[in-house]
Amino acid sequence: MRPDLEVIARGRDADIYRIDRRRVLRRSREGRRLDDEAAVMNHARAAGFPVPDVEEVSADGTEVVMEYVPGPTMAEAMFAEPASVVERCERLAGLSVALHSIPAPAWLRPGPVEPGPCLIHLDLHPLNVIESPGGPVVIDWANAARGSARVDAAVSWLLLATGGDGGRGLGVFADDEVCDAAVARFAHAVGEWDMRRVLAAVVAWRVLDRNVLPEESAAARRFSEDRPAAGDA
Ligand SMILES: Nc1ncnc2c1ncn2[C@@H]1O[C@H](COP(=O)(O)OP(=O)(O)O)[C@@H](O)[C@H]1O
Ligand SMILES: [Mg+2]
Repeated sequence: MRPDLEVIARGRDADIYRIDRRRVLRRSREGRRLDDEAAVMNHARAAGFPVPDVEEVSADGTEVVMEYVPGPTMAEAMFAEPASVVERCERLAGLSVALHSIPAPAWLRPGPVEPGPCLIHLDLHPLNVIESPGGPVVIDWANAARGSARVDAAVSWLLLATGGDGGRGLGVFADDEVCDAAVARFAHAVGEWDMRRVLAAVVAWRVLDRNVLPEESAAARRFSEDRPAAGDA
């Protein structure tokens, strides 16, 4: 990699560098191979789902060159415009539903909680959507798997309600009333009662992630306890 590239973001494992006006480079600091991630992005894109165009994967697999997508993340847009949070959650739900209509490639690793045939992202939240002039584009496919649509949707639902340090979810962007309405809108649009059947298992899986701090874990558990599946209450 050229040493002169400007870093535009540093994630947990991967850093994003700007190459030029059109392209960015995603590089794993841990030397993790990103070929599967790139192949998943190509698969989603071929199915008509909006993801950055992958241009090249380095021979050792640790660097991916992809299209630079201009625009704020959905999270930045929510922060700038708190009144839009409900509507943007509805848009996120639309992306979730569209994604799950795509069958996953057979080689892709199985997702958590229950098996399923769908392409799932497992980190679909407002920080991983760029609002480009051509429409929303979903990034950060590191966790993508073959699995259950309702599990993936429940992950997004949980992240909207309780994600991030402090377990505040969308509370970072808007007041409680707007957040509750936005979380409810998302759930309604993707199918709340189906998600409730897997919510407790999704929370149990999610809190195993060592990046999830105690406050978020506690908020996630409360969120799930308050939303039993039909017949469990
Ligand atoms: N293709 C892209 N075009 C423009 N910006 C990007 C692109 N991919 C990532 N970014 C920027 O880098 C940030 C982090 O990227 P992401 O893939 O979500 O990694 P992580 O969450 O692991 O840091 C994004 O919020 C966005 O600002
Ligand atoms: Mg991300």
